[in-house]
Amino acid sequence: MDRSVNSFTLVGIAMPDKNLADIPLCRSNIKAERHEKQHDTEITKLTLISYELGGEEEEQIARLAEDGDIYNKLAQSLAPEIFGHEDVKKALLLLLVGAPHRKLKDGMKIRGDLHVCLMGDPGVAKSQLLKHIINVAPRGVYTTGKGSSGVGLTAAVQKDPVTNEMVLEGGALVLADMGICAIDEFDKMDESDRTAIHEVMEQQTVSIAKAGITTSLNARTAVLAAANPAWGRYDLRRTPAENINLPPALLSRFDLLWLILDKADMDSDLELARHVVYVHQNKESPALGFTPLEPSVLRAYISTARKVSPHIPRELEEYIATAYSNIRQDEAKSSNPHSYTTIRTLLSILRISTALARLRFAEAVAQSDVDEALRLMQMSKFSLYSDDRQKSGLDAISDIYSILREEAARANKVDVSYAHALNWISRKGYSEAQLKECLEEYASLNVWQIFPNTFDIRFIDA
Ligand SMILES: Nc1ncnc2c1ncn2[C@@H]1O[C@H](COP(=O)(O)OP(=O)(O)OP(=O)(O)O)[C@@H](O)[C@H]1O
Ligand SMILES: [Mg+2]
Repeated sequence: MDRSVNSFTLVGIAMPDKNLADIPLCRSNIKAERHEKQHDTEITKLTLISYELGGEEEEQIARLAEDGDIYNKLAQSLAPEIFGHEDVKKALLLLLVGAPHRKLKDGMKIRGDLHVCLMGDPGVAKSQLLKHIINVAPRGVYTTGKGSSGVGLTAAVQKDPVTNEMVLEGGALVLADMGICAIDEFDKMDESDRTAIHEVMEQQTVSIAKAGITTSLNARTAVLAAANPAWGRYDLRRTPAENINLPPALLSRFDLLWLILDKADMDSDLELARHVVYVHQNKESPALGFTPLEPSVLRAYISTARKVSPHIPRELEEYIATAYSNIRQDEAKSSNPHSYTTIRTLLSILRISTALARLRFAEAVAQSDVDEALRLMQMSKFSLYSDDRQKSGLDAISDIYSILREEAARANKVDVSYAHALNWISRKGYSEAQLKECLEEYASLNVWQIFPNTFDIRFIDA
């Protein structure tokens, strides 16, 4: 057999031996390894996690890893035919990479998989993104909420027609073990069916006690859900909690929850329309400024990254703990009752930072990873609060000023680099354009001095 092919299809029907009839059979193992085959040697999708790289591929990946901007490049190469949604694509990239599972000394496990929920208006390309992710993922299963029942997702106990023995049949989440399960139309699912996945999302197992079978199957699956808001479209007059319409226990299990609204905006609509028309005519995305990576390269890169297991250095532990308690403080002070940061959020920060370090093939998490993780968490949160996003004009500028002032005081710095400033304010939901406006305005008031080329800031007063 061709040695570059590391999986093959065996066509046949596996029948349990009648003599073995008293051993409960678990058929999910056989079903899990179903491959698709297109031509004689070309396999359209390798469903194996351990993706073996050829020499050439290895070189290419090593070259890519040296590129400083690999994070952005990989994210932009995900579904290049979908316009915009940069941060959503970053979140999806991190979902593909995931973080290593932690097994504690006493045997307790902490999950490493990231769960992401995309909530949004109809026609904002949620389903397209889901399909694309499943295509890129080394192992993935796509289902929709309306077509899935609780047992279909977890596991069903059935009577085997040959042996009359009760057998266990793994559902979508079990089949996607060590991979990704995309559930579209998540909101259309029955409440009772949806609760079946609570266990999978945190404990990563499916426990069954039915018809004489009591067992637990592994389901180390990352869940990617897409849903519409409660009334089909997002109603801006109602609170996010009313619009989202999913129970808090389920929501808090998602590491990142994005709200994608379809808002009319002359400039971006025009650009989006041009993009979609171009894709429709040319069957490929317009030039991005670089050649997007092929899905096969992406898959190989992701499989390689998944083998790295970075640790969090001592000196960052304190930094993360402080960041978490600051978010909690901010929340306690604000009048917004909808946001809730729990200890799950802290674990999410750890997971996202580790996934970011994995993308660089780094052995240790860096502070920049934690900053990016915090930024993504905040961006996903701010996508939920329309009021914050609509802040504009003078109000926003003075707000940015106080953020910079506070953060500089907290870090005890007189000089603040532009990158830091941008990070601080984007975590609070402001844009780069607003930052520039603020820098200029307050520079003219002689509050700070701006370095001409770098835009770094130096506070003037004592
Ligand atoms: N930003 C975009 N760039 C390119 N194409 C887009 C974009 N937004 C939507 N589309 C196109 O619009 C069509 C509808 O998208 P899709 O079916 O994924 O929507 P959806 O978010 O799943 O909607 P629903 O909530 O109704 O299921 C797709 O063909 C998609 O390619
Ligand atoms: Mg859809």
